[in-house]
Amino acid sequence: MAIEDSPELDSTLSPDESAENMAKIHDAFKKAGVIAASIKKDAAGLVNPGESALDIAETVEKMTRDAGAAPGFPCNISINDVAAHYTPETKDELLIGEKDLVKVDFGVSIGGCVADTAFSVDLSGENGPLMDASIAALEDAVATIKPGITTGAVGAVIEKQIRARGFKPIENLSSHMIEPFRLHAGIDVPSYANGATYEMQEGEVYAIEPFATTGAGRVADQPQVEIFSVVGEGRLRMRSSRELLGKLVSRYFTLPFAERWLVSDFKSKLVLSVTLKELINSGCLYPYPVLREVNRGMVAQFENTLIIEHDGAKVISGVIKP
Ligand code: CO
Repeated sequence: MAIEDSPELDSTLSPDESAENMAKIHDAFKKAGVIAASIKKDAAGLVNPGESALDIAETVEKMTRDAGAAPGFPCNISINDVAAHYTPETKDELLIGEKDLVKVDFGVSIGGCVADTAFSVDLSGENGPLMDASIAALEDAVATIKPGITTGAVGAVIEKQIRARGFKPIENLSSHMIEPFRLHAGIDVPSYANGATYEMQEGEVYAIEPFATTGAGRVADQPQVEIFSVVGEGRLRMRSSRELLGKLVSRYFTLPFAERWLVSDFKSKLVLSVTLKELINSGCLYPYPVLREVNRGMVAQFENTLIIEHDGAKVISGVIKP
């Protein structure tokens, strides 16, 4: 799952991991990666014309739980010019179209260590070069990443590969560092040469996800929001809000969740949406709006999670194209 620019997240909810052993954390990430790689293969076969987006998302999430892990965030099924953050709502009737370019982005969490991975399926067969641009950018970024490389230099490689094929990187969507229970752990990796000077370090974990588009290279927030995460506490007037916040923290901690995951906790969808509204307005929840390419360009995305080792990046979430 991508990060749109940099929302200011309250990191006070972040667990103190100083006592945690780095090797233990890496083991959890690797376990999550093995599960993600296997689900990715099965999930690719689900993306067919006429298939329900809700069924695909719920199947991916069920496969995750059946493997003994938890979804690191709701499965995103973003189609054509929708770049990211579309997860089906309850009873969503969206069906995959015959010529759709479908992006499936999902996370597998083992104890909060999330393997974040995404792939695109081009049902029209007309977007091969666009798909290849995202794949080449991801491959080259992985080959470039090693201790000491700057995030800006990785962004330059991503931009170069995408522009070389006549497309644009989506500039306001970034790749990101991941820490336990922090899907977006403060350091962004840009998708263009922005001159960022942060030097990547051995032991750090990153999700690299170049978005390539035929459009202008920017996304804009849409009114629809189905994904949220807890970012802090606030003054809550309604009892339902206080109760829900407690449940959200204990179930998901700081990881993103979907509104449809909460429907069974409420008597009506209306009460749920009013409750979520108060939690957003009071600053307890961060909303992730659906993101659409501003010129309605087609968008392809591939994503893998990697650990930086002394001699380079080790991908933990399997093949790029399942
Ligand atoms: Co991501």
